[in-house]
Amino acid sequence: MTGTDYKTMTTAQIRENFLQFFESKGCKRYPSSSLIPDDPSLLLANAGMNQFKEYYQGIKTMREIGATSCQKCLRTNDIENIGDARHLSFFEMLGNFSFGGYTKAQAIAWAWEFITSPEHLGLPKDRLYVTVFTNDDEACELWQEQGVDLSHISRLGEEDNFWAAGPTGPCGPCSEIYFDQGPEFEGEKPGDDGDRYLEFWNLVFTQFDRQEDGSMPELPHRNIDTGMGLERIAAIMQHQGSNYEGDVLRTLIAVGEKLSNKRYHETAATDKSLRILADHARACTFMIGDGILPGNEGRGYVLRRLLRRAIYHGRLLGIRGEFMRTYTHEVMRLMATSYPQLTEGKDRIDAIVSAEEQRFCATLDAGEALLNKELAQLPSGKPLSGEVAFKLHDTYGFPIDLTCEIAENAQHPTDMDTFNALMEDQKARARAQANRDAWGQANSIWASLSDELSETEFLGYTQNSCDDARVLALVRDGALVPSASCGDVVDVILDKTPFYGERGGQVGDTGTLRCGESVLHVDDTQHQAHILIVHTCTVQKGSIAKGDTVSAQIDVTRRELIRRNHTATHLLQAALKQVLGKHVSQAGSLVAPDRLRFDFTHFEALTRDQIDQVEAIVNREIFAAEPMVTRVVPLAEARKTDAIALFDEMYDADVRIVQTGSSEDAVYSRELCGGTHVRNTADIGYFKIISETSVGSNVRRLEALTSCGAYEYVDAKLSELGQLASMLKCREDDVLARVDQLKSSLSAADKKLKAALSGSSSDQVSSAVSSAYNKSGYKLVIAHVQHVEAKDLRSMWDGIRQCMNQTPCACVLASSTGEKAALLAAATDDAIAAGFDAAQVIKAIAGAIAGHGGGKAAMAQAGGTNAQGIDDALAQARTLLNV
Ligand code: SER
Repeated sequence: MTGTDYKTMTTAQIRENFLQFFESKGCKRYPSSSLIPDDPSLLLANAGMNQFKEYYQGIKTMREIGATSCQKCLRTNDIENIGDARHLSFFEMLGNFSFGGYTKAQAIAWAWEFITSPEHLGLPKDRLYVTVFTNDDEACELWQEQGVDLSHISRLGEEDNFWAAGPTGPCGPCSEIYFDQGPEFEGEKPGDDGDRYLEFWNLVFTQFDRQEDGSMPELPHRNIDTGMGLERIAAIMQHQGSNYEGDVLRTLIAVGEKLSNKRYHETAATDKSLRILADHARACTFMIGDGILPGNEGRGYVLRRLLRRAIYHGRLLGIRGEFMRTYTHEVMRLMATSYPQLTEGKDRIDAIVSAEEQRFCATLDAGEALLNKELAQLPSGKPLSGEVAFKLHDTYGFPIDLTCEIAENAQHPTDMDTFNALMEDQKARARAQANRDAWGQANSIWASLSDELSETEFLGYTQNSCDDARVLALVRDGALVPSASCGDVVDVILDKTPFYGERGGQVGDTGTLRCGESVLHVDDTQHQAHILIVHTCTVQKGSIAKGDTVSAQIDVTRRELIRRNHTATHLLQAALKQVLGKHVSQAGSLVAPDRLRFDFTHFEALTRDQIDQVEAIVNREIFAAEPMVTRVVPLAEARKTDAIALFDEMYDADVRIVQTGSSEDAVYSRELCGGTHVRNTADIGYFKIISETSVGSNVRRLEALTSCGAYEYVDAKLSELGQLASMLKCREDDVLARVDQLKSSLSAADKKLKAALSGSSSDQVSSAVSSAYNKSGYKLVIAHVQHVEAKDLRSMWDGIRQCMNQTPCACVLASSTGEKAALLAAATDDAIAAGFDAAQVIKAIAGAIAGHGGGKAAMAQAGGTNAQGIDDALAQARTLLNV
């Protein structure tokens, strides 16, 4: 092998050198986009090209010939494989991109220049290999023009050399560049499973736009999308065989070595855990940095899974206590120069990691205690029962790998056959349950009616009433009935209705159905079996029968209030995203006539200032009097907008977009929503947040009022202010000043009182001293003092000593506050020498106040619960001391 002496570069040098190289060729440098993509079809950013999708599709045009970036990426398809020397979840991807600005020939020439030129990577040419797509003769020739020998070019098929970001969207043939690590590594040829030929740069010639139906029309122009794994090239440039041995990840592995006191490259299991920790800790730091919170679905679930997997591998390594922050801080230290938002988000990252770690560690602790108990009872060598392992997994959420590891350390294998069988049983039970639910639903009256009837036509977006709705079915107590009469409660299904059936958080309408003289009050309206709107009615007069024609009238006032709260909820969500960040996403909502409630993901309580900002933004949108615009569009079209949609939520082929503002510039909120909204934001009148609380980990809840409700709320607060002013005998405007004034006069009064009391205590000191007994060798003060708390008895003693002016003395003092009594005995050295023992005195008299205490000859104290006994105690002291 020749050319082993190529140069060495750090990760930071490679990153900067790459970006500068492509800038010098006329590409514009773009910062990495967030890990949370703008594209709703994508869970997490997974390639440099993500942020340029619209340029590929010709929706946007770039002035420069192309772009270059270093993109944060996260790929989750093979989390299980992470731990080997190759796979990573988070990685950085260097890329250059063109949207018709430069050609494939140019892209290949620049790639070759960058990797071989001594000013850049300067890799030895004889160790470089390329692959091209099966029929891409053009690429094959272009590489040869660069001087690449035909023996270093191979053709690979669809799996390796055709690249697509997802099932639909821009895609095309690609060409990959490989580095030959040398014969000491396994592997025959580029593209095989061995480590000898390492792929490090992928050049995609993006020219098609794959559609849902599989067809692949050409994109408006021929494009370039290249991606070079920074960790991979860093390892190569640092003469290391694995991704994990480049400077950044190896430093993170060292964190684990230090924490666990184990060495990398000692055992395969330790290596695996150290690699998992390094990779996952870095991924989690970046995910939280970009606003993702641990949760049970979508991105939040990926984060929680990575975080927990890292924590339990920490346990496998024997690391105790909270440790993840040691990793996240190291990630920040290593990478914040390139990604400053890590430092900006440090406190948030710390708080989230720590909360999740504490929660998961509690789970692990509970499981581990149970496991250790089981292991302690097990005769040596006997396997740990599969039932116990299953219980740990099922009830405690304790990972099976960890069970096996701990059992193994205690010299017990785990009965995996039984464990696996129990897991299978559980899956079967879950499937059966799911089937039962499905059948249960299928048997319900609504499901069978939904087979028979067509979808209820909803008129309520534009009408509040309808004169000719036909009764298609009547249901009482879960069964079809032909008619219902006065007093009955009956569910009515009409062919069309202005009544909104509860869904998407918006409550159902109420109102009236009439048929001739008959009157039904609609108490509630619900959506059933996806297509039916069901009115739950009380027949108030006459009767109703299937086939009747009715007039339907909703309670308009109530609906108007609901509309206001629904639109306000949309404005609220947009304002929360603006003030708190993009991580805010809806976690539940209630839109009722009298209030709205909005649950959303966020990791800490909102500050007063944030609440004020959100409220101000929503009110500004209201006062801007923007018209509300709704459109029904195909889902694919909606995805192209920035409309807020719940990720993973099932939508119909056509969806309704609800936005504020008719011109693009004025759009503040845009959501997919089936609810009913105001015509103009001004209809909402006024918006007021009335509470902010927590409803689970990382989920906050806001409750708010609009229009009349908000007015009444504020009015009530103002009337409290009025009452306050009259109580304080001042004008409303002066309440704050008046309270300030009161506070200062209160504290002045407090000071005076203290002074008066201490004055009284000094009087008491002098009177006690003047009535002191003369004992042989010292003076003895015995006194019951008033208004002195137990803690101040010591200062009384100080006062007595001062008054005695060097004369040897001793005291027995008593005081009380309420039922509580306190005693203190103390003596100067001479008095002790003359025979006074404070401890002895207190011991003898404490019983009288139902107390106990103690001390030394120089000072002793007692507290008791019987203040009535003070006089007795002092009498006993006199007896004891012979005075
Ligand atoms: N999009 C391609 C990849 O991810 C090239 O950047 O490999």
